[in-house]
Amino acid sequence: MRNILIKANQKTYVMDLSVSYLGLKIKNPVVVGSSGITSNIENLKKIQESGAGAVVLKSIFEEEIYHEYRSILEKEQQENTPDYEYLDYYDYKIKDDNVKKYLSLIEAAKKELDIPVIASYNCVSDWEWTFFAKKLEEAGADAIEVNMFMLASDFSKTCENVEDTYLKQIEKIRSSVKIPVSVKLSYYYADLASFVKRVSETGVDGIVLFNRFFHPDFDIDKFEVVPSNILSQPSDLAISLRWISILSGRVDCGLIASTGVHDGASVIKEILAGADAVQTVSTLYKNGIGYVSQMLDDLKTWMEKHNFEKIDDFKGKMSQVNSPNPAEYERVQFMRYFESKKYELD
Ligand SMILES: Cc1cc2nc3c(=O)[nH]c(=O)nc-3n(C[C@H](O)[C@H](O)[C@H](O)COP(=O)(O)O)c2cc1C
Repeated sequence: MRNILIKANQKTYVMDLSVSYLGLKIKNPVVVGSSGITSNIENLKKIQESGAGAVVLKSIFEEEIYHEYRSILEKEQQENTPDYEYLDYYDYKIKDDNVKKYLSLIEAAKKELDIPVIASYNCVSDWEWTFFAKKLEEAGADAIEVNMFMLASDFSKTCENVEDTYLKQIEKIRSSVKIPVSVKLSYYYADLASFVKRVSETGVDGIVLFNRFFHPDFDIDKFEVVPSNILSQPSDLAISLRWISILSGRVDCGLIASTGVHDGASVIKEILAGADAVQTVSTLYKNGIGYVSQMLDDLKTWMEKHNFEKIDDFKGKMSQVNSPNPAEYERVQFMRYFESKKYELD
């Protein structure tokens, strides 16, 4: 693991940014998250050059494969009487081709990169979750990130039904592979703290908090649903900062912060909250992949200013369990006593 020599106030000391990520030792806590940026080998090489600690590949989506199949089925239905034998072949072939393409990306990344390569996937059918996990492991991924989310829009299902489905799947995935597994969650749970705790007890190595999803908007002239706010804002950091602070030290696996990590200061904040590492995406869409090195420089400068030599020197320093005022982390209402003049209208 590479250490960095820093000269400060005539003193020379070794600064070590390495952290444990799902049990893998990585050279620093800045990981590039799953996105279009991590979907091709050219970008993956740039990510390594920028100094990132690890990379999570763009997810492979079972749903996308299924859509491709369905559009062929619909076309067949319009033009001919569908030949189901032929379509069975298509189902097999489309899935096979898509999976092969993804596996070659993992293999190429493993050949070209020294940093850990984490594969990511999302499924919709119960029986596919372990199939994909095994395939990604066989292709050489260092770890797997399970991008698991179904919108809870089914009126017939209760909170318990939905969460039990997740927990059972996670347990199955965990026991189907030997490499580390993390689960990337959203914050759409009524009992978020206890749900995250139960996920951590399945044996997973880490939980990524939180995923960011496609948000629909309406085009009011074309009467169409269109995507909105694809990239996060720096202010989105507040959500993961609160929950990493509350959960760190209280769950049975590592925590990785995601959403709103746009600069070196936000990396520092998430580690102070207790995160093992962070994932970053939107800021790289805005500032380019090379911006990772700026984030790392800012982290080093801050550590030097505060005489921290390693990440553990400040990790979790501001988590709720270490706070003299733990109620601060759970405050949600704008109560009168902390309103200031600044927010009064003239
Ligand atoms: C264009 C784009 C594509 C994404 N694709 C995926 C994906 O395939 N799988 C996934 O788990 N997350 C995906 N994400 C979500 C990111 O990994 C990340 O969780 C989210 O953008 C929040 O992090 P940020 O605030 O640093 O952008 C995508 C995000 C963007 C902007």
